[in-house]
Amino acid sequence: MARRPAQSPGVHVITVFALLACSSQLLVDANSWWSLAINPMQRPEMFIIGAQPLCSQLSGLSAGQRKLCQLYQDHMAHIGEGAKTGITECQHQFRHRRWNCSTVDDTSVFGRVMQIGSRETAFTYAISAAGVVHAVSRACREGELSTCGCSRAARPSDLPRDWLWGGCGDNVHYGYRFAREFVDAREREKNHPRGSVEHARTLMNLQNNEAGRQAVYSLASVSCKCHGVSGSCSLKTCWLQLADFRRVGDFLKEKYDGASAMRVGRRGRLELVDQRFNPPAASDLVYTEPSPDYCLHNASTGALGTHGRLCNRTSEGMDGCALMCCGRGYDQFKTTLVTRCHCKFHWCCYVKCKRCTSLVDQFVCK
Ligand SMILES: *[C@@H]1O[C@H](CO)[C@@H](O)[C@H](O)[C@H]1NC(C)=O
Ligand SMILES: *[C@@H]1O[C@H](CO)[C@@H](O)[C@H](O)[C@H]1NC(C)=O
Ligand SMILES: *[C@@H]1O[C@H](CO)[C@@H](O)[C@H](O)[C@H]1NC(C)=O
Repeated sequence: MARRPAQSPGVHVITVFALLACSSQLLVDANSWWSLAINPMQRPEMFIIGAQPLCSQLSGLSAGQRKLCQLYQDHMAHIGEGAKTGITECQHQFRHRRWNCSTVDDTSVFGRVMQIGSRETAFTYAISAAGVVHAVSRACREGELSTCGCSRAARPSDLPRDWLWGGCGDNVHYGYRFAREFVDAREREKNHPRGSVEHARTLMNLQNNEAGRQAVYSLASVSCKCHGVSGSCSLKTCWLQLADFRRVGDFLKEKYDGASAMRVGRRGRLELVDQRFNPPAASDLVYTEPSPDYCLHNASTGALGTHGRLCNRTSEGMDGCALMCCGRGYDQFKTTLVTRCHCKFHWCCYVKCKRCTSLVDQFVCK
């Protein structure tokens, strides 16, 4: 579990905070295990034969992650899939925002913006760690990994006595533990001096990774299936089941909205910038730097800018043209929208639709 930041009210370590403020030059490893999501990965049964090369071919792994890769080769495709699930969910959650979690075409995956310890970076670490827990837990249940199987979680005490416990559940316990080893490995290998900006960033990453893993863990719940004569449901079998990943995304998005601003404290730990707030729990997101300006393309921060983004002329939210285009204005054009329409139900059992086209207005940021 992530350490809770020390609380030392009244102590303001201004010099360290000033250091944090200019840490956009901070060099974080540019490449990341996230690139497993975009690397075409062979099927597990393919790489058992040519065992060794796999792990050295994968880019973006740290030394410790490479070792884990060698020990757990059959996990790698699932880690990649988990990273992909996380990235896709991130893009869904942020589709209406200036920063939309878009990926760039190299092993850094998200580009330079991740070098800034912002809220967005916090979310990205959390959701991708969550993706790994999700994918590995499910793979255990599907029997795709040699080192784990169905969940062995204890029967919940509040389960009605005549319901059976023992369907094959998602092994979220294993998924959590494996993701902790693998995802945190790269942070644990670092040896930055306590109190340094780099060390603060390591602490931030560890906390956000943990928050992501805990989200999947805590949202997993009991699921049951009815048996019995003609669906009488006289018998139920229950097991542990992962929540839909969309729920994990929604949950972490709320954590993003409530993320805590942190700075390096006296003992080299993270502490709240504003001590009037409650210190974050292990399941909360933290950040150490303000977000960069996502309005304009900026090669030094890695912001892509919102030029060319679609916006909604009537919305007053983040997806509205006013906010999305940062006051630069927008262009309007017409585009044809193809939808399914006049759907008819045919006996039995299919639905037939026509294709309708309509001309709609679209608005794009200048
Ligand atoms: C890019 O961002 C940096 C840091 O916020 C800022 O100092 C710089 O002026 C920006 N450059 C451009 C071209 O906007
Ligand atoms: C996300 O933003 C980038 C940069 O502004 C843009 O190129 C891309 O099309 C956007 N993606 C979506 C799905 O809107
Ligand atoms: C634009 O925003 C308005 C108000 O929020 C909403 O009712 C409408 O459905 C949005 N239009 C599109 C195309 O998303």
